[in-house]
Amino acid sequence: MSFDLLAPHYRWMEAVLAGDLLQRCRTRWLGEVRESRHALLVGEGNGRMLKACLAQLPGCRFTVLDQSAKMLANARRRWERAGGGQHVVFQQADLRDWRADGANFDLVVTNFFLDCFTAEELPRVIGNISAAVSPKGRWLLADFSVPTAGWRRIRAQVVLALAYGFFRQATGISARRVTAPDDELSRVGFQLHQRDRFNHGLLHADLWAKAG
Ligand SMILES: C[S@@+](CC[C@H](N)C(=O)[O-])C[C@H]1O[C@@H](n2cnc3c(N)ncnc32)[C@H](O)[C@@H]1O
Repeated sequence: MSFDLLAPHYRWMEAVLAGDLLQRCRTRWLGEVRESRHALLVGEGNGRMLKACLAQLPGCRFTVLDQSAKMLANARRRWERAGGGQHVVFQQADLRDWRADGANFDLVVTNFFLDCFTAEELPRVIGNISAAVSPKGRWLLADFSVPTAGWRRIRAQVVLALAYGFFRQATGISARRVTAPDDELSRVGFQLHQRDRFNHGLLHADLWAKAG
């Protein structure tokens, strides 16, 4: 599985298909975590969220972890263009095999990342990330979702069937559908503090916090 092939096209595809919608989801709750000191951005992709974090969290150090070398290179370029002043570590790793040195991060960000994994993979992915987060640490996430009923549900099922078909071909992701991460996040000790839904429930942006 790799996003390397998609990396050069990710930005223009997002602009054409979604305008500024995904970026509004990514940054929805960023204003609530301004006091963060040490942030882990997992599956960060081309660095658009990193750029927003650099602007809004001036006192924060960052670790940017992604499996794709090309995505990481794009994120690094965005950091350099933003002045390269803030402390950022870029780490190429598969999150499924990655282990934190300790619970050192008071903020973790996963945008359109958890929805790359199957229901069977999600406990390991969420467990590995959770182990890196300090007590009371926060977790910002944006993901796709499927409303519970009605035309919104049917619309989301159609959109996501097309999206997963494309991403499975282009990147080899294992997931065929979205698995809501809520139960697993609760199981490892996080509570949902904020949630906003976008585009008739097709997307959601959350702020979760770990128990103290
Ligand atoms: C759908 S993209 C989302 C990128 C970005 N966060 C965004 O908001 O658009 C998923 C990202 O997660 C990375 N990724 C996928 N599986 C991964 C894994 N097992 N470990 C680390 N990164 C992974 C991909 O390389 C890609 O950059």
